[in-house]
Order: sequence, then structure tokens, then C-alpha cells
Amino acid sequence: MTQSAKLIYGDKEYQLPIIEGTEGEKALDISKLRQESGLITLDPGFANTGSCTSAITFMDGEKGILRYRGIPVEQLAEHSTFKETSYLLVNGRLPTQKELTRFSILLNDHSLVHEDMRAFFENYPRSSHPMGILSSMANALRSFYPELDDLEEEINMTVTRLLSKIRTMAAMSYKISRGHRVVYPRPDLAYCANFLNMMFHSPVRPYEIDPDAVKALNVFWILHADHEQNCSTTAVRVVGSARVNLYAAISAGIAALWGPLHGGANQAVIEMLTHIVENKNMNRIIERAKDKNDPFRLMGFGHRVYKTFDPRMKIMKKMCDTLLGKLKISDPLLDVAKELEEIALNDNYFIEHNLYPNVDFYTGIVLRAIGIPTNMFTVMFAIGRLPGWIAQWRESIDDPNWKLCRPRQIYTGPQETRYVPIEER
Ligand code: CMC
Repeated sequence: MTQSAKLIYGDKEYQLPIIEGTEGEKALDISKLRQESGLITLDPGFANTGSCTSAITFMDGEKGILRYRGIPVEQLAEHSTFKETSYLLVNGRLPTQKELTRFSILLNDHSLVHEDMRAFFENYPRSSHPMGILSSMANALRSFYPELDDLEEEINMTVTRLLSKIRTMAAMSYKISRGHRVVYPRPDLAYCANFLNMMFHSPVRPYEIDPDAVKALNVFWILHADHEQNCSTTAVRVVGSARVNLYAAISAGIAALWGPLHGGANQAVIEMLTHIVENKNMNRIIERAKDKNDPFRLMGFGHRVYKTFDPRMKIMKKMCDTLLGKLKISDPLLDVAKELEEIALNDNYFIEHNLYPNVDFYTGIVLRAIGIPTNMFTVMFAIGRLPGWIAQWRESIDDPNWKLCRPRQIYTGPQETRYVPIEER
């Protein structure tokens, strides 16, 4: 029997059906609420609002669980590659060997970027933030790679193009920003190794591919590959609900991810840790984070959903120790990060507010060890989140119940008032 909840408002009763997910999560279905009662719901930040049903990612913030298509992220980080995980997210299941090989060939075939696009990169001011460039370039891809007639073929082609070309574009923008020659993708290299080579190879210093760096990058991208209805994914779904093309929806996702409360946090963490190392002011930073009158927050701490721990952070912290050990790197930021974590985890403010390190707390140190410059960190997050955005966009356009996103509001401005001509004001 379908469960329902009762809402009593005025002298009327309304039955609200309960929807239940496969992991037992429950929701009140309010889709007919306004039509029947005239009421809407108000939920700033959407912390209590489900915007869709989804079969892609499951997370449990209390238990620290994250699974893609049912598979725990810990298992994927240990055994899978970013390419295989991307296939899993976008297509709903792990590929066979033949499918994976075919996917690799397609990614390789689409890895070049139209030469005319270089003019864009070259004409951005050198000081531009790479996320701003990436967001507009993702949108520009549409003009260079127009629509195909067959929708299914169009989607598959666009998915492959995005996964492959955004990676090439990210490396390209880095090279151009440094005034260096662009390095083209190589057909003999796998996805992550290819990216590292495009970033770091130079005619005077050939890049030696380090398997530990490749593994770390695979893990980093797998951990970022999806995170259900977060801010940028919601942006992709909302923009996509107007039936714009996938490139435009992804461009919106990149723009949302840029913010320091979301993907921009990995850059902000490194800036904060560097500030602490340079100024030896850890206690002051903690005091500022606890001060209600100071907008400063401890970057890399807290999460809207995870309230006990972020499972991605545990994997990333371990990866951080392993990688720095293998590469024989001693990074003062790692020592400061561990000390800061220790102090914060024993401090009443952070305990009472359920604030724990999130994935971004250690990722920056891993990226630094690989050689990625700080202003590229959020771009790295964006490349990782691409398969998730694509999978979510695809699911939304295939959903028979999907509607144009158009929330309501409670108006709090002035009531009707007369226009006053300028001479009377
Ligand atoms: N440092 C100090 N205080 C904090 C922090 C923090 N990092 N995060 C939350 N608080 C406090 C906040 O001041 C508020 O206190 P009070 O109730 O006394 O006014 C309380 O905790 C709740 O804050 P909130 O903003 O309502 O909580 P939220 O769950 O909506 O916030 C968050 C989630 C990620 C925006 C927030 O924790 C934050 O700003 N963290 C720092 C930025 C960061 O690391 N972001 C990366 C998130 S993980 C990557 C991703 O998936 O995007």
C-alpha cells in the first residue's frame, strides 16, 4: 500500500504521497500541493528539497557512504580508472573489455581541439582565471562541433567530445598562459597519463610519466566524478531543463563549480595553508573561523551533506601520504594541514557544528605534488566532475516526468504603488 502523510491547513486535509528510494530514503511528494491548497514550500538552499529521482549516485551523509551506480567509491578508487568510472556513470554499468577499448579509441579520436579555438585562448588576458576561460570555451565548443541529426548519436558524440576535449583544453590553456608551446594529445597514452604529458612535456625537458602520479590523478578524478545533486550539478540540470544543448549546460556547471564554497575550495585551502605557513598564525585562523562576526571560514571544512566524515577525504588523505612518500616530497603544507585538522577536531566549536575536513582539505597537496599550479585546481575538479554532470543531464532529459525548472517564491517587496514622475520625486 502506498504510504502518505496528512497536511492539515485551515479546515482542509491534504494527502501527500510518500516516495521511497531503493536505499529507504523517503520524500513527501508535493507536486500537487500548490494546485490543491494554494501553498508552496519555502526551503532556502534546498536542504530539504528533492529536485528529482536519480539512479546515478547514492550518498549517506550520516554514515559517510558514497556509491556510483551502487559501487562504493572506495572500491572504484582502488581498482578502477577514471575512464572506466566515467563509462560507468554515463552508461549506467561497467563496460566489458571490448566496450572499454572502443571508448578509449573514441576518446583518442576526439582529443584534438579545433585549431581556430587557439585564437580564443591566446586572446584572453594572461591574468584570467582558468575557470572563467574553461566555462566559456565549453560553451564555444558548440559552435565548432555543431549538431548531428540523430539525437542518440549526437549525445554519444557530444559526451565523448566533452570528456576528451575539455581535458585537452585545460592543458592547452595552461601552456598558453605560460607562453609555452601547446603539447598535443598522444594516441599511445591513456586518459590521465595523456593529460599529464600535455601539461608538463616540453621540447627541452621531456616529461617522464610517473605511474604514482598517474594513479593519484585517477583517484582524484574518480573521487570527484559525481556527488548527486550538488550546486554545480543542479545548475547543469536546471539549465538543461530549458532544453539547451549539453555544452551550454556543462558551461553553467563549470561556472557554478568555480565558487569558493564549492569546487573553488581546493584552491582556497592551499591559499589558507600557505598563509598559515608564511605567517605562523594557526591559532588566529581558528579563532577567526569561530568568530560569528567574521565571514571567514576554515576552508576544506564542513559539508552540506556529510555530517560525520567525508569518505573521499579519507581516501585522499591516505593518497597524500603515499604519494608524497613515493615522490620523496616534504611539503610544509601537509604538516600544517594535519596539525590544523587535529586542533579543529578537538575544538568544541567544530565538534558542535559537525565540521570535519572535506575532500578539498587534502586534494590541493596531492595536486601540488603532481605539479599542478594552484589556479588550475578547480579546473582539475571540473574535469573530474564532467562524467557526473553528463550522466545527470542525460538522465534528466530522458526522465518522462522532467519539467522546465521554474521555482516559485514568496514575494516580500512593496505592494502596488503609483509611478512617480521625475519632477515630483
Ligand atoms: N568554518 C567555520 N564555520 C563553519 C564552516 C567552516 N568551514 N562551515 C560551516 N560553519 C558554520 C557556520 O558558520 C554556521 O554556524 P552557525 O550555525 O553558528 O551560524 C554553521 O556551521 C552552519 O553553516 P552553513 O553554511 O549553514 O552549513 P552548510 O552545511 O550549508 O555549509 C559549506 C556547507 C560547505 C558551504 C560550509 O561548511 C563551508 O562554507 N565550508 C568551507 C568551504 C568548503 O570547504 N567547501 C567545500 C565543500 S566540499 C566540495 C564540494 O563538494 O563542493
